Amino acid sequence: MSIELVPFEPEHLVKFISWKNHLEVIQGFGFTFPLTSSQVKDHYERVRKDENLLQLAVVENGGEHEECCGLVKFYNIDRVHQKAEIRIIIAPGCQNKGIGTKAIEKACDLAFGRMNLHRMYAYVLDFNTASQKMFEKCGFKKEGILKEDKFSGGKFVDVIMYGRVR
Ligand SMILES: CC(C)(COP(=O)(O)OP(=O)(O)OC[C@H]1O[C@@H](n2cnc3c(N)ncnc32)[C@H](O)[C@@H]1OP(=O)(O)O)[C@@H](O)C(=O)NCCC(=O)NCCS
Repeated sequence: MSIELVPFEPEHLVKFISWKNHLEVIQGFGFTFPLTSSQVKDHYERVRKDENLLQLAVVENGGEHEECCGLVKFYNIDRVHQKAEIRIIIAPGCQNKGIGTKAIEKACDLAFGRMNLHRMYAYVLDFNTASQKMFEKCGFKKEGILKEDKFSGGKFVDVIMYGRVR
């Protein structure tokens, strides 16, 4: 199965709203509160207008139809220092099938190619083994640990910083 990254459209938002409060997604990011649909819509409207952010839908190419199965976002796109933070969500039900790894590889191709960025980085909660493995498989290196940086699941947890340079 192959995947593509395509511009994030309103129909993808409808899908995303259906996954946003799943435990796998909330835990992966350390979200504290469930989000309402209108909060998610407002957030995506702000992101759409912010030129330092890029959001892309991950779609599976299954023959004639495309199925949206995730979301990749570039945050804080810095054109002077040529770097950006990357975040990803793969839909519950589509996880652990290699889609996240393929999506990060495609996102890096775009970042280091057409976007001419030099460095990509990510913040990963220390218990998020899937995310750590995914970034390491895509050539990201562990660069440091932010001690007890996030409050998640009733306690402070460390956040690992990952980076990859072109
Ligand atoms: C983290 C996430 C993006 C990974 O995407 P994915 O499509 O599930 O990952 P892949 O299938 O490409 O697997 C990557 C590695 O993680 C492992 N993995 C996947 N799910 C796992 C799980 N639940 N527990 C442990 N390892 C897991 C895979 O086995 C693979 O490692 P391997 O090649 O050594 O076997 C996805 O699980 C997700 O969206 N989680 C919720 C949100 C989140 O945590 N986002 C990242 C925030 S930094």
